[in-house]
Amino acid sequence: MSNQISAIRDSFSGRFAVVAAVAGSAVGLGNIWRFPYLVGQNGGGAFLLIYLLCVAVIGIPVMTSEFIIGRSAQLNPYGAFKKLAPGKPWCLIGIMGVAAAFMILAFYTTVAGWTLEYFYQSLTGNLMGKTDTELTGMFDDFLSSSFRPVLWFVIFMCFTAYIIISGVKKGIEKYTKIMMPFLFLLLIVLCIRSLTLPGGKAGLHFLFHPDFSKITPKIILEALGQSFFSLSVGMGTLITYGSYIKKDENLLASAGYITLADALVAVLAGIAIFPAVFALGGSPASGTGLTYIVLPGIFDKMPMGSVFSVVFFLLLSIAALTSTISVLEVIVAYLVEELKMSRKKATVAASLSVSVLGVITVLSFGVFGNISILDRNLFSFLEFLTSNIMLPVGGLFIVMFIGWFYSRDLTNDELTSGGLLKGSLIPVFIFIVKFVAPVAIAFVFLYSLGIIR
Ligand code: TRP
Repeated sequence: MSNQISAIRDSFSGRFAVVAAVAGSAVGLGNIWRFPYLVGQNGGGAFLLIYLLCVAVIGIPVMTSEFIIGRSAQLNPYGAFKKLAPGKPWCLIGIMGVAAAFMILAFYTTVAGWTLEYFYQSLTGNLMGKTDTELTGMFDDFLSSSFRPVLWFVIFMCFTAYIIISGVKKGIEKYTKIMMPFLFLLLIVLCIRSLTLPGGKAGLHFLFHPDFSKITPKIILEALGQSFFSLSVGMGTLITYGSYIKKDENLLASAGYITLADALVAVLAGIAIFPAVFALGGSPASGTGLTYIVLPGIFDKMPMGSVFSVVFFLLLSIAALTSTISVLEVIVAYLVEELKMSRKKATVAASLSVSVLGVITVLSFGVFGNISILDRNLFSFLEFLTSNIMLPVGGLFIVMFIGWFYSRDLTNDELTSGGLLKGSLIPVFIFIVKFVAPVAIAFVFLYSLGIIR
């Protein structure tokens, strides 16, 4: 049975393809939109430090655990837990993952739509020659209007659905392999421009000098949530992608490279944004619009800035696309394998239902701005609930599954690719998934709830 499944399952074609596809999922708006705005709101360097700690100590082990589960089960998250732990409630993690995927797609595609708007605005030359205040006003006006943000949302959702319908190899692989290196280069160009603006050095200080007095329970929870969000872990995306990885790939090494690349892109985004914030007179704590307000300011100060701006927002849209497809794929793989729908039907059903929630989310900056859940608008509520609660809870159970429940022999087998690799880091990995990561996640929850001080 299982051979039959793996025989018909699509898979990535090699080492670089795997790393590129998973990095394509990980690198996206999380690094370039969400990371800088959270750093700006949560005290700069102190946030960065805790974020990097979470990435290294918790992120890599959760990612590796998801790969192990996905590759050994060859199924979607729900089916994987049902197969590896029959008759046990572990499959609820899979259900939570599908639910999280719906909510993440709703707000993530919203921001992806903002990116398309900025791509369009740079094409028409509208972003150039504006002051920080004008750019802020422009962002706010766009955000609170009803038509354009919804239109861009729908367009982006259609792109995502189109790629998912065309399948893993043709769809996901093709788009990620080419675009990532370009985005990376362009970010470096932006960093150089930002750093050489007069007064920019203050931004570096803000980003790299942790002020420990700024650390609060809220900041720690935000940093943990962001580390999960940015690495795409905690909801089964990487269980699904793990099931497409060939048996001879080194899972632990791949997780290490991907994590490094992802954190590097986030830090580069920080180096591009904060010097410019200080040089051009914005506020680091201006919130969800930070990236969209600051970047046009940098392009304006560059030779051929309008060209760079077009290319950048295009690449950022594509980076967002390689992330949204990885989230939609979770829902689609579930519908196809568990409810036996055709791939096409599943994709249409999932995209339509996400769009209903998504349109309300888009409008939560405008006409639905008065809907408030726990003092947040719908957008920020979904962001909080998924990143800060559902992903870490999912991650906690995922590492505990590998650490305490799943067969040690099968884990070793996956990590050494059936004895092919040496696996000298396995004892460290086991120690972390058994003790360090679960305790750290539990600590952050208890601490941010005020249960421990
Ligand atoms: N990690 C992506 C980003 O940083 C977003 C993303 C893709 C994601 N798949 C996910 C987040 C799964 C959480 C879970 O842009």
